[in-house]
Amino acid sequence: MGNPVEVIQSVKLDDENSTLILLDQTVLPNETVFLELKEMEDVWDAIYQLKVRGAPAIGIAAGYGVYLGTKKSTADTYDGLYEDFKKVKEYLASSRPTAVNLFWALNRMEDRFKAEEGKTPAEVKAALKEEAELIRAEDEQICESIGKYALSVLEPGWGILTHCNAGTIATAKYGTALAPIYLGQEKGYDFKVYADETRPLLQGARLTAWELEKAGVDVTLICDNMASIVMKEGKIQAVLVGCDRVAENGDTANKIGTSGVAILAKHYNIPFYVCAPLSTIDLECKTGDDIHIELRPSEEITSKWYEKPMAPENVKTYNPCFDVTDHSLITGIITEKGIAYAPFTESLPQMFKK
Ligand code: MRU
Repeated sequence: MGNPVEVIQSVKLDDENSTLILLDQTVLPNETVFLELKEMEDVWDAIYQLKVRGAPAIGIAAGYGVYLGTKKSTADTYDGLYEDFKKVKEYLASSRPTAVNLFWALNRMEDRFKAEEGKTPAEVKAALKEEAELIRAEDEQICESIGKYALSVLEPGWGILTHCNAGTIATAKYGTALAPIYLGQEKGYDFKVYADETRPLLQGARLTAWELEKAGVDVTLICDNMASIVMKEGKIQAVLVGCDRVAENGDTANKIGTSGVAILAKHYNIPFYVCAPLSTIDLECKTGDDIHIELRPSEEITSKWYEKPMAPENVKTYNPCFDVTDHSLITGIITEKGIAYAPFTESLPQMFKK
């Protein structure tokens, strides 16, 4: 047996000061900085700039953002507060388009608001705080449960490839795709994790390699274009990734490059699992074509990581932040309620009934 793994919490509320404490994921691994945010504009900016990132963590931050924004309202009636609440909700919804957890959390906050109908503004604000805290606390349990189900399809000593960062800092705790790695580490499973660096923002290199190394996991960093060779050399027995939105048919939006990894996994006959809390499954999207893919600034490709430009000045760029992995490439979608297998149009809706 290994030792209990200590994992970092990247999003939490400092209740006393009504401050959202966020681990700034843009400066890792060189600096560990916790931001103290009091304004919803700061929360919007933190989401847009990827200071807080990863679908579940974005949802949690948005819940707290709603609380911080609505708390500033001076409305003295329930209806007046609701008008201000709706502006806060709409504003935060414009921060990033792809991760459905953002919209899921905002809608959940609205449901809670409506459930408090007739209460005083002070009571409603207290309820919003409670709901945001619940979203965070539940995510911890959800990730642990995903980790247990995922662990049931893995064997000790396996090589596992992951793309981007679906780890503890992308959630309340444990992560989704990395949850079984942490649980396995505690049981002495001795996984060998291969982390794709994940161009252009290097979530794999800066975040996944960092958090797994800190936890004592055997992690090897590779460039994105090395996934094929490690698979061919027999180093990988399973691929585990997180996701930002899963459509009803199982098509899955995740960090750009994920679909390429899935195509490679199919070629080499390696199981490819998506780890997805139910809050990331959007049954209103029938297929991946319905998922809005975020486009990001060209500087992320041309000038982000070196002092000198990384490409000719004014070169045309195309920088989609996510891609959609076709459901036919996915072995299973691991949720907190169990593992969904094809046909996903049947198995995914079933998960919501459990
Ligand atoms: O642009 P990012 O860093 O927010 O993208 C994150 C991902 O693609 C993650 O894999 C996904 O959100 C799942 S996090 C548990």
